[in-house]
Amino acid sequence: MDALPQATPPAEAFARLDALMARGAAFFGTRYAIMGGAMSWVSERNLVAALSNAGAFGVIACGAMEPDRLAQEIAGTQALTEKPFGVNLITMHPRLDQLVQTCLDHKVGHIVFAGGIPPGAAIKAAKDGGAKVVCFAPALALAKKLIRSGADALVIEGAEAGGHIGPVSLTVLAQEILPFIREVPVFVAGGIGRGEAILSYLEMGAAGAQLGTRFVCATESIAHPNFKRAFIRGAARDALPTVQLDERFPVIPVRALQNEGTKRFLEHQAATIRRFLAGEVEKAAAQLDIEHYWAGALRRAVIDGDVENGSLMAGQSVGMVTREQPAVEIVQELITQAAAAIAARQAA
Ligand SMILES: Cc1cc2nc3c(=O)[nH]c(=O)nc-3n(C[C@H](O)[C@H](O)[C@H](O)COP(=O)(O)O)c2cc1C
Repeated sequence: MDALPQATPPAEAFARLDALMARGAAFFGTRYAIMGGAMSWVSERNLVAALSNAGAFGVIACGAMEPDRLAQEIAGTQALTEKPFGVNLITMHPRLDQLVQTCLDHKVGHIVFAGGIPPGAAIKAAKDGGAKVVCFAPALALAKKLIRSGADALVIEGAEAGGHIGPVSLTVLAQEILPFIREVPVFVAGGIGRGEAILSYLEMGAAGAQLGTRFVCATESIAHPNFKRAFIRGAARDALPTVQLDERFPVIPVRALQNEGTKRFLEHQAATIRRFLAGEVEKAAAQLDIEHYWAGALRRAVIDGDVENGSLMAGQSVGMVTREQPAVEIVQELITQAAAAIAARQAA
């Protein structure tokens, strides 16, 4: 569904938006302060280059890639764009240090550390090698600590986001963090699907926004047509966090579209817990059994198109994905929506 049709906003509205985005855009060296959130399997050379060519900041999702595979992906992206892009590294990757070095060897300007607080040594190595470091801050105290450790920018990601999530919404994180951090640019993520929302966070002090779900159905995204169709059909209420059946067996919260796989995960947890209670399996083995359920599931959905049993990680913004569109069109839509909101206010 689209909002009311609007005339093209006047140049002053775009200029005001440019001013609000200036710090974030300067940090990345891009036209707009919009980051393409790294999405494992989805954020590879084609989508990343398309986003960077569209004036946003594309970010390669390294995920579980080994250093030589990452090197190929960086080189492949560089072949498709001359614009800046970044690489997202998961901090628990066993070869984190080598992955940082791979980025530096290939002159990647920005390294995003995700999936936990990065080791100080990794931050230092990245910075000593000339890269800028971006970290996820799940709370104000950690935001301050990360800045002391050398983070050049922060992302605050609310629970509305797709993929692995924390417990707090972006609405609350933004209030808890944005007014208190001025030292480095802070980018907001989670549940953002329209330009008006980006504008509101810029006005609260954000330097820019990171969007993932909204870019899955970019024409350039290599996600399987079945995966894209699930996003086009999906509504906000379908993108739910994983349910944990028993607090003795913690489950990592992941927001995803519900399917057969999510239903069967509940049954799998129940059956594993029953086996544990019957003394048939040790606690640690039962925990591992639960954790292993989703192994390889995102790849199965994104690449193989198995949208029934694979993982359909998606943010609540999925309802705002209505069709396949070129990345440049999505970026321009976001920018025009934000500028139109500025213009509407000026006209009032
Ligand atoms: C399919 C999918 C895979 C993702 N994989 C990663 C990842 O590998 N690393 C990461 O830091 N974030 C990952 N994310 C989170 C995104 O980078 C981004 O922060 C999030 O999508 C923002 O919320 P939104 O989806 O509501 O726009 C993923 C999100 C999705 C939807």
